[in-house]
Amino acid sequence: MTTITFKNDVNGKVAQMPVLEPTYGAPVVDIGKLAKEFGYFTYDPGFMSTASCQSTITYLDGDKGELMYRGYPIEQLAEQCNFLEVCYLLLYGELPNAEKKQIFETSITRHNRIRENLRRFFNGFNHDAHPMAMMMAVVSSLSAFFHDRLNIQDYEDRMVTARRLIAKMPTIAAACYKHSIGDPAIYPRDDLSYTGNLLYMMFSLPGKRYEVNPVAERAMDVLFTLHADHEQNASTSTVRLAGSSGTNPYAAIAAGIATLWGPAHGGANEAVIRMLDRIGEVSNIDHFIAKVKDKNSGVRLMGFGHRVYKSFDPRAKIIKEVCHQVLDSYGHDPRLDLAMRLEEIALSDPYFIERKLYPNVDFYSGIIYSTLKIPVEMFTVMFAIARTAGWISHWIEMITEKDQKIGRPRQLYVGASRRDVPPLNERN
Ligand code: CMC
Repeated sequence: MTTITFKNDVNGKVAQMPVLEPTYGAPVVDIGKLAKEFGYFTYDPGFMSTASCQSTITYLDGDKGELMYRGYPIEQLAEQCNFLEVCYLLLYGELPNAEKKQIFETSITRHNRIRENLRRFFNGFNHDAHPMAMMMAVVSSLSAFFHDRLNIQDYEDRMVTARRLIAKMPTIAAACYKHSIGDPAIYPRDDLSYTGNLLYMMFSLPGKRYEVNPVAERAMDVLFTLHADHEQNASTSTVRLAGSSGTNPYAAIAAGIATLWGPAHGGANEAVIRMLDRIGEVSNIDHFIAKVKDKNSGVRLMGFGHRVYKSFDPRAKIIKEVCHQVLDSYGHDPRLDLAMRLEEIALSDPYFIERKLYPNVDFYSGIIYSTLKIPVEMFTVMFAIARTAGWISHWIEMITEKDQKIGRPRQLYVGASRRDVPPLNERN
């Protein structure tokens, strides 16, 4: 076994740490005994050099622009499988055969309704509440419905929790949307596909005929596949950390939704559309790019850059293709011209080249959603539906780890030295 030697230059003490070899990727130094044997912690804000866990679910290579779920390249999954097959793969580790696929799909359909008293929760929200705030609250409320009889140490209980969550997310998402526009909630239909049902629940009205557009249905399915997992991103790490305390899994997933909401994570697709609308016209692009490059402006080119992908984001390539297919069917959106021109400029500008900033998954997904008439406030909600498959798969992997422990990072304390509490009248 390879080891790395740590030497303390002050007292000459030496400690050897084993190096763990991954299937792919950089070797990982196991520093688990560093504190005990050496008396030191490590400091790594933003986890720039730290693997927080072992995982068998997803691998991504930022330099090569590769993404695989359970070893299968994302390009093949997006082309040959539907989203529910991908969910099955993430959860169970293998792709389903025809019989298992059918059983899984039936099970998802069986769980797609939400209780009426949960529906009534929506009445407590203002019509202008952000759908992510509603979704976070309603998903965490599921813990109140499924707690006492849920044994997270039981395999079947974990799996039914996973299927229930995947099944209910589109119903909750559509209910958030309907509430925000003051329309009556639409109940799921068992004869529709996963994404067809979501579109139906969002856009149909009681008493009116609604036909699911197959181009929209397939585009959503591919988008969901691409967003289903992305190894230890901020929201997934949050779900793992929250879940490590043994908390109710619905509460852990709600914590993931909270994390996803931020503009540096899942909120980026919403930010991209707002940015394109602000730019308005191709003639304003040069001025905008100049602002992005000005460090004092605080403006970023949203939908560009990624913590891990440093050559290209493979999901962005697939999404760009889907975007063209959707616009061919629905008609042109001038925002696509803006996005393509921005991409062209950024890919030839030294500022972006030197910093290895390429379009990420969110650069084109917003244009697709927007063309499908999904309002910007709902973009991150769409992301959350898809990512639920990844979150719950990671939660299961974490909870079933041998010697599973509560996550408890340490810190570098740089606050005040010890001091005595002054009486009230002596304080500033
Ligand atoms: N526009 C302009 N400059 C950028 C951008 C950007 N989008 N992203 C990074 N930079 C610059 C940054 O200013 C810094 O420059 P310098 O070295 O001169 O200080 C350098 O590139 C490195 O940036 P960083 O913030 O240290 O990089 P990071 O790895 O911490 O951040 C990121 C990754 C995704 C948060 C960031 O690239 C960003 O804010 N992008 C825009 C938001 C976005 O599209 N997010 C979606 C991410 S993909 C979906 C998901 O996984 O949730």
